[in-house]
Amino acid sequence: MNILINLAYIVASILFIYGLKMLSKPTTAVRGNQISALGMLIAIVATLLYSGMDYRWILAGLVVGSAIGAVAAIRVPMTSMPEFVALFNGTGGLASLLVGWSEYNTFLNTADGGLGIVQVIAIFLAVLIGGVTFTGSMIAYAKLAERIDGKPTLFTGQQLVNALIVVAVLVSGVVYVMNPGAELSQILFYVTVFLSLVLGVLVTIPIGGADMPVVISLLNSYSGLAACAAGFVISNTVLIVAGSLVGASGIILTNIMCKAMNRSLAHVLFSGFGSATTGGAGEGQTGEVKPISAEDAYYVLEAASSVVFVPGYGMAVAQAQHVVRELGDLLEANGTEVKYAVHPVAGRMPGHMNVLLAEANVPYEQLVEMDDINPIISTVDVCVVIGANDVVNPGAREDESSAIYGMPVINVDLARSCFVLKRSMRAGFAGIENPLFFKENTRMLFGDAKDSIAALVEQFKSG
Ligand code: TAP
Repeated sequence: MNILINLAYIVASILFIYGLKMLSKPTTAVRGNQISALGMLIAIVATLLYSGMDYRWILAGLVVGSAIGAVAAIRVPMTSMPEFVALFNGTGGLASLLVGWSEYNTFLNTADGGLGIVQVIAIFLAVLIGGVTFTGSMIAYAKLAERIDGKPTLFTGQQLVNALIVVAVLVSGVVYVMNPGAELSQILFYVTVFLSLVLGVLVTIPIGGADMPVVISLLNSYSGLAACAAGFVISNTVLIVAGSLVGASGIILTNIMCKAMNRSLAHVLFSGFGSATTGGAGEGQTGEVKPISAEDAYYVLEAASSVVFVPGYGMAVAQAQHVVRELGDLLEANGTEVKYAVHPVAGRMPGHMNVLLAEANVPYEQLVEMDDINPIISTVDVCVVIGANDVVNPGAREDESSAIYGMPVINVDLARSCFVLKRSMRAGFAGIENPLFFKENTRMLFGDAKDSIAALVEQFKSG
């Protein structure tokens, strides 16, 4: 039976890798997801075939987990997906912590001295990384769901406290690894559980504003590493493979996010970025805000030969993607060249805008990345900014005192004209002012993005 299980694990691992590769292209992403899910099904069924399973507990977990998952999937709105993903990451970390803890307990209770050095270290890592991932993800969840302030939380001596905790954890780890059964090691093990949970909170609260994408992808990677460690703890090869794939892809994503923000990982983690209090949009700005009606916006769009849509988090809130596509089609039928420019950190989760645009069946060939649109943006007649704010903030380019100075943005202000669709003058996620709203060639189309675009569509249909 064990040979069969191992064969199934190999098949599952191949499907994971193949599926992951397919996720790198929008055209193959859905199939990639299905292939990976099939791999996971094979892995689960194979694991259930191990002898000595207590199916009562597995059934109980299955019923409770499925019930929570089903209710959440039905009730959680699409706009809350990013914080939901953060929550899932956290529960992955908690699961690894509990696996490590339970294996340690089993070892202590049976006292058969049967733990090899690899398992001893793996238990420690599963608990440490799992704990940091759990509480770190809970803070990320609370920030994304706006249950706590998204701004960085800083206090005097924060770095020192963090450093002392890391040293305490390392010392505990060394003592525990040298003799895991000793009484002191047992105390230090529980100290490590506690400190890892505290560390998760402390390393996440100083990061806020526009740097959250990096934290989210990093926590995603941690959850994979914790699962990988848990795989070593229970000697389960497929968990080791799946965990390392999540860990590695999370690190790659973190690197992409760092590049998108033009920051190093060390800078994000240790600089307390965004701590300077910055005012809301409009403070200290010179220039006039020029509102525009849907009717007037229509006349400009109708005459434009090129239009670039720039979606942001507000498009997700308004669920405007379908009507945006409809407007795009009408513009194309009118002979206008239409593109959709996507910033890598627009929205609240990696690929957020791509998912929404794909849902509305926007043709992939109309999607352009920031690096491809910026060099030609001065030739664009109209940029239509749909609920984006931070990712189109020219302050990132022009204002050295801006908290997002240096972050590449889509330079919509350099297009011939720019329409910004939002409900008010409020700031975006980073909580900073946006000089775009006061530029000579900017017009503000105030209102819910879906309503505004629907009004434009109406104009086109009746016009
Ligand atoms: P934001 O800067 O958050 O701006 C979104 C804008 O949408 C707001 O200013 C809001 O203005 C407007 N809005 C909200 N609801 C709307 C509606 N129903 N209709 C019209 N407008 C609406 O978004 P962004 O430009 O996409 O930038 C993303 C930000 O989130 C960045 O700072 C990024 O670092 C951060 N972040 C990203 C991620 C990932 S991985 N993508 C994760 C965490 C954080 P009004 O209130 O005036 O309408």
